[in-house]
Amino acid sequence: MARVVVGCAFAVVIAMAASAADRPWIDRALSPDARAALVVKELTQEEKLRYVHGYYGGNLNGIQHIPQEWIADLPNSAGYIPPITRLGIPALKETDAGLGIANHRHMREGDTATALPSGLATAATFNPALAFEVGSVLGRETRDKGFNVVLGGAMNLTREPRGGRSFEYAGEDPLLAGIIVGEEVRGTQAQGVVSTVKHYALNFQETARTSISANIAWSAARESDLLAFELAIERSNAGAVMCSYNRVNGVYGCENSYLLTKVLKQDWSFPGWVMSDWGAVHSTVDAANAGLDQESAFLADSADFFGEPLKVAVAERKVSQARLDDMVQRILRSAFAAGVIDNPPQKAPTDLKRHAEIVQRAAEQGIVLLKNTGVLPLAANAKSIAVIGGHADLGVLSGGGSSQVIPIGDTPETEVPVGGPAFKFPGLGWVRQPAMVFDPPSPLAEIKRLARAARVRFANGKDIAEAVRLAKSSDIVIVFANQWMRESEDVLDLSLPDGQNDMIAAVAATNRHTIVVLQTGGPILMPWLNAVPAVVEAWYSGNRGGIAIANILFGTVNPSGRLPVSFPAGEYQLAHPEIVGKGTTTNPYAPGTVPPPVNGDAFEGADIGYRWFDKKGSKPLFPFGHGLSYTQFSYGGLKLEGGGALTVRFTVMNTGKRAGSETAQVYAVPPGGTAVKRLVGWARVELKPGEMRDVTVISEPRILAAFRENPDGWHLSAGSYAVAVGASSEDVRLNGKVELSGATLKP
Ligand code: GLC
Repeated sequence: MARVVVGCAFAVVIAMAASAADRPWIDRALSPDARAALVVKELTQEEKLRYVHGYYGGNLNGIQHIPQEWIADLPNSAGYIPPITRLGIPALKETDAGLGIANHRHMREGDTATALPSGLATAATFNPALAFEVGSVLGRETRDKGFNVVLGGAMNLTREPRGGRSFEYAGEDPLLAGIIVGEEVRGTQAQGVVSTVKHYALNFQETARTSISANIAWSAARESDLLAFELAIERSNAGAVMCSYNRVNGVYGCENSYLLTKVLKQDWSFPGWVMSDWGAVHSTVDAANAGLDQESAFLADSADFFGEPLKVAVAERKVSQARLDDMVQRILRSAFAAGVIDNPPQKAPTDLKRHAEIVQRAAEQGIVLLKNTGVLPLAANAKSIAVIGGHADLGVLSGGGSSQVIPIGDTPETEVPVGGPAFKFPGLGWVRQPAMVFDPPSPLAEIKRLARAARVRFANGKDIAEAVRLAKSSDIVIVFANQWMRESEDVLDLSLPDGQNDMIAAVAATNRHTIVVLQTGGPILMPWLNAVPAVVEAWYSGNRGGIAIANILFGTVNPSGRLPVSFPAGEYQLAHPEIVGKGTTTNPYAPGTVPPPVNGDAFEGADIGYRWFDKKGSKPLFPFGHGLSYTQFSYGGLKLEGGGALTVRFTVMNTGKRAGSETAQVYAVPPGGTAVKRLVGWARVELKPGEMRDVTVISEPRILAAFRENPDGWHLSAGSYAVAVGASSEDVRLNGKVELSGATLKP
């Protein structure tokens, strides 16, 4: 027996030696880039071309002309890049998206996943460590379902609050979005998969998304949307960047050499790869030479740009061989860096209980108490509670589109059809009515669980008279109001749809203890605000949102969320009172056509959201950074340190009767007459009653610097900077001035 064992061991050693000899890239001591370069040297031209040319993840009845050998390997997801089996290079199995492992319209029957809170909800936590944990849930479930690339990291700044994907993103501020999404993506990749950041760049609305041109001074873009991406990529080392549908300054995102080569690959030294959005490629030579590295799901494009045309372009030297090699190098180095070659994901059971605990904390910390005159937390002795509207008897609302998760506990009843043509994906055999998906458990069930003795009754809110009757016979009324958002269309305006405003007004006129719980994809107007004693913004709160909402309402959890977007008092306050290109279709995909540009003049430049309100002297309904608590906090001891960087020290104290978390925000205004305040940092502190904490915030210098071109660089002006510390962009508790000596930073 010993002889056999020795023989086997020896055989393994020989095999490994052989494999190390003929596959030197398996040496984990080498850098990802060095390992990738060794593979590229071995690839045939056909294999190189294969790895930059993507398919849909489903077989689509053979219309993809995907070779039979790979059909069985298709994951029935967003994207698939076939393997290079000869060299041990895996297929890239790509899944959506940033809010959980999407199963957009049930592409994989019965495959549920943990529904994360919306991107805005996680941003509203202002908690980078929790964002990392949320990202780890996404990364773990990516692996456990057998995928190795997740199309997460959605982070376009909220330039257009009616944008249909605002729920997916992380709000209006570049520092907040960059840090929160950077930590989410870092947490995702720490689980051993590749994540994207997307949609690069300035893809801030759905209207005319494949034809609009976001026109903006590059310096303003660098100080806003691009700075958010820069901070997120620095923090996360994201393996890939997804270029966007829209044009920027007249040139499509996926063939924009300023964005893809000058900024991303030269200025930021991004080593990973640029993949297209699904249908965002409009050329072969221009796109390849501008810096696109991989065409995703070529069937989504108006032609097969990185298929045969790319092979010909390289043969004719219109695209250099070095450029093609670089494309593959970038993909492979990110695959090595993420660990998906050394440790390929295998389908495995998931610790859903642990994931549920994390997403519940994110939901609880992301819920924002907007108004409370004392009716919250609910008194334990409430005898009768009415719960009205918002499908609160089903679950919590989630957003639609490619990020749609089919949640744990999903049933046909928790999906509410919204009309419109059935969606049939050719060849995948499934047909689905577009539907709003509600994530169980329901808020109603959770309110009943915590209400103890009280009688809890529900009305769907569609019949206002019925709602009023129920409100009249109840001590407390909790109205759920929904604004459903979905990819590919923007909301018409910032008003609650479907007559909800009238219903709220009628109920509030009947019962003065009417609490409104908002489930929105972004900011909304509140004509009934003065008539209600409390408003809670719960966003789309994910698979434990029902529990989180009940915990906040009954005070089991003290609310601590802060607004990552400004809530305007009216659309007249917005930089664009009407959506740019209103009425233009979103996806004029007619093959062979290039949609005419719609000019999206982003004349607000870098002054998005609270910066725009500051610039115009407007007062929003609820400002960026706003959020109340069931306790109170005081600030003191401001010390400012200038010189090369801005350091702000102060104390925060819990002066109330219960423990709570305060997010102390630091804003600064650079010298010069037209400058407006910018968030330069924050600290989230958990304090017991009477507890005081010393806080130090060191400003990210690029936030206060101006980006200048020719030569490109960040210029931090010398001079006096006004500093404001407070509980929101408007609620200033401490202020002072400090001299900075100025600096020039690389672009
Ligand atoms: C979509 C989205 C993108 C998604 C991709 C794959 O249209 O813009 O976010 O990851 O296509 O579904």
